[in-house]
Amino acid sequence: MRKQNGKDDILRSLISHKGTFISGQELGQKLSISRVAVHKQIESLASMGFDIERKRKWGYRLVRIPNKPVSPLVKYEFEKIGIYDIDYHYFEEVESVQEIAIREARKKVADWTVFCASRQTGGRGRFERKWVSPYGGLWMSFVFSPEVYLNKAAAISVACAYFVAETLRNEYGLQAFVKWPNDVILNDKKIGGILVTSISEGELIVKAIVGIGLNVNFKPSLIGKAIFPATTILEETGKEFYLPGLLALILKKTKTEMKDMLKNTGKLKNAVEKILWKKGQEVTLRMPDDSFVSGRIKGLDEDCFLVLSTTSGEEKVLSGEFI
Ligand code: BTN
Repeated sequence: MRKQNGKDDILRSLISHKGTFISGQELGQKLSISRVAVHKQIESLASMGFDIERKRKWGYRLVRIPNKPVSPLVKYEFEKIGIYDIDYHYFEEVESVQEIAIREARKKVADWTVFCASRQTGGRGRFERKWVSPYGGLWMSFVFSPEVYLNKAAAISVACAYFVAETLRNEYGLQAFVKWPNDVILNDKKIGGILVTSISEGELIVKAIVGIGLNVNFKPSLIGKAIFPATTILEETGKEFYLPGLLALILKKTKTEMKDMLKNTGKLKNAVEKILWKKGQEVTLRMPDDSFVSGRIKGLDEDCFLVLSTTSGEEKVLSGEFI
């Protein structure tokens, strides 16, 4: 069941009028609210970046919607693809949605509560690195209960990188790849990353906070110098992507497949290997102790760790970074 919300309902009516006028009275009657309340909600939509023309006697007309993952647009997209049980929270600018999600997860929020911002001033990536998060990107974190053992921790980030890459492939025709363990790659450059924070009880991961950062509609020059070459979808395709739609599709894929993939990591392994970056090629990784290991990527094991064929045999990599 979808929750009633004045702003969302008004937006739905404006969109269904396809750029023609609808009177304040009609809107009020439809939603059982006063014309003053309608006006207030219209003002609120305008402050979010919606361009709504107002004409005396005619009413309101939607001229332009912002390309931002604001709640009314994302909820509209959720409905379009049949998602009703995601609790979505939007911020114009915050330090980090991951921090917000972690705080809320500790207070026991419902599974599939999502926090998203247009800009992060203190976005962070793996290994406490800074994550540049300007306007135009997709910066979101969500909470869910994986109920898997700690040995499956790597599978959570691999699975999420896979869901993002697959959405870009299936819905937008982009040749995206998964770079083990948590990156999304386009044209051999990084376009996105996954950050997983786990809350465990004993050996069991009871809550996971998954942060997804995707460089979408901005110039890569804003990213500055990165450890691994980075780019944006805009730069690679020359096209601007509609953020509310993209976000909704990623969440749908993630929410629909997550439980099954984590329960059946053999299936996940097989799926990811089909789009695993550099599979079958020679690579070098830096280990956490600063040593290096080189070999040919054979694939993943059942727990989604990387398996290399080296000169001294098969080697399993639990943690490391491509150089
Ligand atoms: C990485 O590749 O190092 C992971 C990057 C994860 C970035 C996302 S953006 C949303 C969430 N908030 C953060 O501060 N980080 C994650």
